[in-house]
Amino acid sequence: MAQTVLVSGGAGFIGSHVTVELIQAGYDVIVADNMSNCDKTCLLGARKITGRKIPFFKVDFCNRNAVERLFQANKIEAVIHFAAFKAVGESVEQPVMYYRNNLDSFLNIIDVARTHGCRNILFSSSATVYGQPEELPVTEESPRQEATSPYGNTKQICEDILRDSVKAYGNVRGIALRYFNPIGAHPSALIGELPRGVPNNLVPFITQTAIGKRECLSIFGNDYPTPDGTCLRDYIDIVDLAKAHVCAVSRMMEDKMKEPYEIFNIGTGRPVSVLELVNAFQKVNGIKLNYRFAPRRPGDVTAVWADPSKANKELGWKAERPVEETLRAAWNWEKYIAKK
Ligand code: WQD
Repeated sequence: MAQTVLVSGGAGFIGSHVTVELIQAGYDVIVADNMSNCDKTCLLGARKITGRKIPFFKVDFCNRNAVERLFQANKIEAVIHFAAFKAVGESVEQPVMYYRNNLDSFLNIIDVARTHGCRNILFSSSATVYGQPEELPVTEESPRQEATSPYGNTKQICEDILRDSVKAYGNVRGIALRYFNPIGAHPSALIGELPRGVPNNLVPFITQTAIGKRECLSIFGNDYPTPDGTCLRDYIDIVDLAKAHVCAVSRMMEDKMKEPYEIFNIGTGRPVSVLELVNAFQKVNGIKLNYRFAPRRPGDVTAVWADPSKANKELGWKAERPVEETLRAAWNWEKYIAKK
């Protein structure tokens, strides 16, 4: 009998890709989402890719009774928690909404899961917890910097909630995956990133500019102390990222954890600049992108990229997809949704 994984926020960009990889690795998946930040495009795409019905429940994870009903109705052996608000700028304007939503939902999941014998909790964390690191590349031992936004702070607090719950309750163990910059789309072009309104993130803004939805891409700052003056990031392909979640779930389910609470950086280990990414997108897709250099964006860090060796060694996972392939998939996805 396949083991069942609950993917909270599973109708979203990362959640839907993880759902596909889990099913293709032999797990059963239940998707629960409050649909506040996405429509059913990616859920339907995941069903098409896998050929599976994939049970879906509309759930507000801040409603503890709803979470209770979910666990009563399903035998869940592990939870991957994505359900959270994630717009950095919006979190600065709406801190209470962000703390309420992102913390209450996670507290409910941990509390209800453990009372139903589900002891495996995988938390979707972020490299944003490192802020602007003193030393690069970033390892899991690199100190977390004070969060520069309520969004980033909720990631740090949720890591601490998981760490303290593991310590306090004998029946919880957890893994936090710190993603760097997830980009791209599934090679089928049936699932991908669907930002609401004007995209905050770079790659969806690039693809929307290329398709004509946006007039011009602004590159925020070309006067940084970097080789070409633009910021450096560690862009991790979304399918590679999704596969890391399968490795982490298996590590928990197969009792291979070395500590009851573990943290892994999920990145390529390769810094890429904004301008390099823009040029790679143009080259691989044969497109001339309309862009301009604009002032720096407040809150941006100059450079951050991972040392992924712990995940490579312990999870047996490594980023494999070349960035050119990722950018081709991102463009194919943009063209697919433009036709819908
Ligand atoms: C990347 C680079 C921008 C848009 C954020 C969150 C992080 C995670 C990933 C959720 C920066 C530049 C961007 C644009 C640009 N999200 N840029 N023009 O800020 O590194 O990380 O998203 O978990 O938590 O903090 O990603 O894609 O917004 O920016 O020049 O229109 O692209 O300045 O240098 P970021 P990003």
